[in-house]
Amino acid sequence: MRTLLIIVILVMGAAFLYAWSGMYNIAATQEHWDVTYKFIGMVTENSIKQQSDSVVNPLPETPEAAEAYIDHFHSMCRLCHSAPGYPRNEFAQGLYPSPPDLAERSHQQKWSDADIFWIIEHGIKMSGMPAFSPTHSKEEIQGLAGLVRRMPELNDSGYKDLLRKAGISTEVKEHHGGGGQGDGRAEIEEETQGPEHGHSNGSAETGGLTQPMPASEEGDEDGGPHAEEEGH
Ligand code: HEC
Repeated sequence: MRTLLIIVILVMGAAFLYAWSGMYNIAATQEHWDVTYKFIGMVTENSIKQQSDSVVNPLPETPEAAEAYIDHFHSMCRLCHSAPGYPRNEFAQGLYPSPPDLAERSHQQKWSDADIFWIIEHGIKMSGMPAFSPTHSKEEIQGLAGLVRRMPELNDSGYKDLLRKAGISTEVKEHHGGGGQGDGRAEIEEETQGPEHGHSNGSAETGGLTQPMPASEEGDEDGGPHAEEEGH
């Protein structure tokens, strides 16, 4: 019994030393072992399924009502997850775990409507999937969940029709020079041409992600010295 206790303490101590030493490689380019990935996947899935029990009315009343929220989907979700006719943004290709294509059947089947609402509302810790409840209303999240459900039935032109109906530009620009659409990575500069992305609070503009912050002429409100260091 005593020997067992000593072994347990030694193993825990060794694990702590390993974690503390910096030998573990936290790089997003370094994939987990298969067993670790499966373990995290199990924790994530079971947690979402348990936590989403409290969700009521996860979708808008009709599937068409979700269409009003396409500007949110196109200017945020699409950048990471892609959308019919639009590849995900360049930065999202370096995310680990990789944001899945939401139209894929396996992802659609895995989650209930309540799960999808919950994922959008709360996000997924340490994965890159943001929580949208701090910046979006319940109606907006319902609309986004409704759009996730619509993705498998939308082909490229069906998705573009939704954009056109909402008055959003269907053009994309290349990040690495050039231009045009459909022959490479989607760019997000065109987003500012669409209607103002209506967040329920705050004025964050995802369309400006690749633009450095314009230098403020009055300077930082609190006179801080770091205003110029921001932007990258
Ligand atoms: C910054 C990138 C990013 C943005 C923006 C983003 N997501 Fe995600 N999302 C992720 C990542 C990464 C995952 C995978 C998380 C994991 O596997 O643990 C994910 C997972 C999901 C899932 C679960 C899919 C599955 O089967 O695992 C859903 C649903 C989802 N996101 C919906 C959305 C919606 C809707 C939006 C827009 C409101 C959005 N996401 C915006 C990165 C993003």
